[in-house]
Amino acid sequence: MPTKVPGAEDFVPDTHDLSVLADASQACRGCELYADATQSVFGQGSAAATVMLIGEQPGDQEDKAGAPFVGPAGRLLDKALEAAGIDRGSVYVTNAVKHFKFTLPERGKRRIHKTPSRTEVVACRPWLMAELDAVRPDVVVLLGATAAKALMGNDFRLTAHRGEVLSLPTTDLDLDLDPRVVATVHPSSVLRGPPENREQALEALTDDLRVAARLMGDS
Ligand code: URA
Ligand code: SF4
Repeated sequence: MPTKVPGAEDFVPDTHDLSVLADASQACRGCELYADATQSVFGQGSAAATVMLIGEQPGDQEDKAGAPFVGPAGRLLDKALEAAGIDRGSVYVTNAVKHFKFTLPERGKRRIHKTPSRTEVVACRPWLMAELDAVRPDVVVLLGATAAKALMGNDFRLTAHRGEVLSLPTTDLDLDLDPRVVATVHPSSVLRGPPENREQALEALTDDLRVAARLMGDS
């Protein structure tokens, strides 16, 4: 008998109600990441949003607050969205993975973010699919390689395709939806990069968000 691949599907209720989905995600045991995190961090925003922004996973502050993109990366994202003319109030913001993955270097030290594995990203994808199906956005913005690979496939090269207008692959994702897709860097990469390049990196992120803003105008 084939062994069952672990994943979130057994925990995702059959509903388009985002608050019911968010509550249910707290009980998810689709991978090991629930065990050390404070809580799941579900997406936030209106079900009527036309744009969905997808990051990687909650960070330290998001894990404590229970809301996506409220820490340093979120502040940078807010700045880029404003510069691109996108109102954060009009978008739905979420992450590819709902629980914070981290290492504890030493007692009392700050928790260090760890990139989720492909297995964890795939395990968590049913939540993302449920969000996409509930919000049905016209435009999806993939922030960073983890989000991009979660939806575009593991071979997707962000550096080759950032800022392009893409479609979701028809294979693999069982989704009756055809949004325009724009992939760009993760806001944290702007913060992590060399300070002398920060301005330029922020401008490049903003330019990619402007592509999404134009698509919003078209739909
Ligand atoms: N980074 C992410 O990808 N998502 C968050 O919510 C915060 C930081
Ligand atoms: Fe479930 Fe995703 Fe959390 Fe893993 S990270 S336990 S799949 S919600």
